[in-house]
Amino acid sequence: MIRKVKGTRDILPPETTLWNDVERTALRIFGGFGYSEIRLPLLEPTELFVRTVGEGTDIVSKEMYTFADRKGRSLTLRPEGTASVARAFIENGLGQRPQPLRLSYFGPMFRYEKAQRGRYRQFSQIGIELLGAATPAADVEVIVALHTFLAELGFDDLIIALNNLGDPEDRERFIAGLKTELTPHRDELCGDCQRRWEENPLRILDCKVQRCRELVAETTPVADVVSEDAARHVAAVEAGLQEASIPVRRAPRLVRGLDYYLRTVFEVISPELGEDTVICGGGRYDRLISDLGGAAVPGVGFAIGEDRLVDVLPQSFKDRALEQRIVAVLPVGGAAAAQATSLARDLVLSGVTAHTEVTGRSLKACLKWATKMAASVAVILGESERADGVALIRDLDRGEQETVALGDVVARVAELLQARR
Ligand code: HAM
Repeated sequence: MIRKVKGTRDILPPETTLWNDVERTALRIFGGFGYSEIRLPLLEPTELFVRTVGEGTDIVSKEMYTFADRKGRSLTLRPEGTASVARAFIENGLGQRPQPLRLSYFGPMFRYEKAQRGRYRQFSQIGIELLGAATPAADVEVIVALHTFLAELGFDDLIIALNNLGDPEDRERFIAGLKTELTPHRDELCGDCQRRWEENPLRILDCKVQRCRELVAETTPVADVVSEDAARHVAAVEAGLQEASIPVRRAPRLVRGLDYYLRTVFEVISPELGEDTVICGGGRYDRLISDLGGAAVPGVGFAIGEDRLVDVLPQSFKDRALEQRIVAVLPVGGAAAAQATSLARDLVLSGVTAHTEVTGRSLKACLKWATKMAASVAVILGESERADGVALIRDLDRGEQETVALGDVVARVAELLQARR
């Protein structure tokens, strides 16, 4: 048997219904805030991620699916969406459109990570990016949009953690100070942090090893060394969020795994999945587009891990999404088959889900099948009913049956389903 690639998933019905509903809700809420969908390639030149996400990051140094195509070009299956949005912004001259530009995206991303619950090698993100606004109000907007979306899904226990990474100059100063503070304990850091010391010292703050955590807890938080401008910016973001009644928690050690961030960074944590499996990550990236050769266009945004989000969806949302209103259309005898399909079409167009029996089962087997399919109502088209221009409608939950003129079937089914809600 051929098995799926490690770290990939088959998402089966009815779970796909949840995914569809989550995506529909995202389109409605983010669309409502003015974000229009952009569809981007899954394949990008490797250099795009090296220059944006950063060479020293885990993503670029060890997690990318990179290969040479038939002409020897180095391509990468995208590990994230923001770099592609920045590339597309420059390449399509999106700076010519009214600014700021609000974009949303969905879709699969690829990272060669250790596969476990909530961590996959192919996973999906839902993201938004607000390009062309450097104000704290822009950061507030994306976090308000995020919060609105999550609240609409029924979440009420998620934690938004926020930090100030300062500007790149501040960060250099911070890293130098961090190293000075940690130097006496350098030997006590774990093997990964020894490597991070050279390649990406900021990530030492993110280490999960107990001793590293203890050492980091003694160091000066990054927010304490940022410029006045950066401090004012993030303070204004916090004030704006407070005004919008969105609770956020300052997380002084929060850093993100991508190099392009500055000033505001944030994550959403679910109590169920814990701090190592965050639901959403985002922040400000004012130099990303200019670093790629574009104009000085600031940006802020986030991406939600859809796999993780669906994993912890509130029961109320799941119940609503999975609520089924199925009608089984059951032709008995070969002659009724075509009639069954056109009746099913009328039912579908009236907004119900109609499953038609197409394997030629006996009436008894048909009814058994309808129950298994969780149908609430069955429409039975038998030979004698056909001759009389009627159908039998059976309420499968109550076991009641009635004869209805063919022309009235759609309306009667609608009534029965309505009564069930
Ligand atoms: P990120 O934190 O690398 O940020 O990813 C965002 C979210 O994607 C994570 O919070 C997580 O929920 C999900 N995710 C990441 N890796 C995996 C995985 N292996 N399996 C399942 N889910 C995963 C970014 O990608 C940025 N582009 C976000 C952003 C947009 N920043 C500004 N705009």
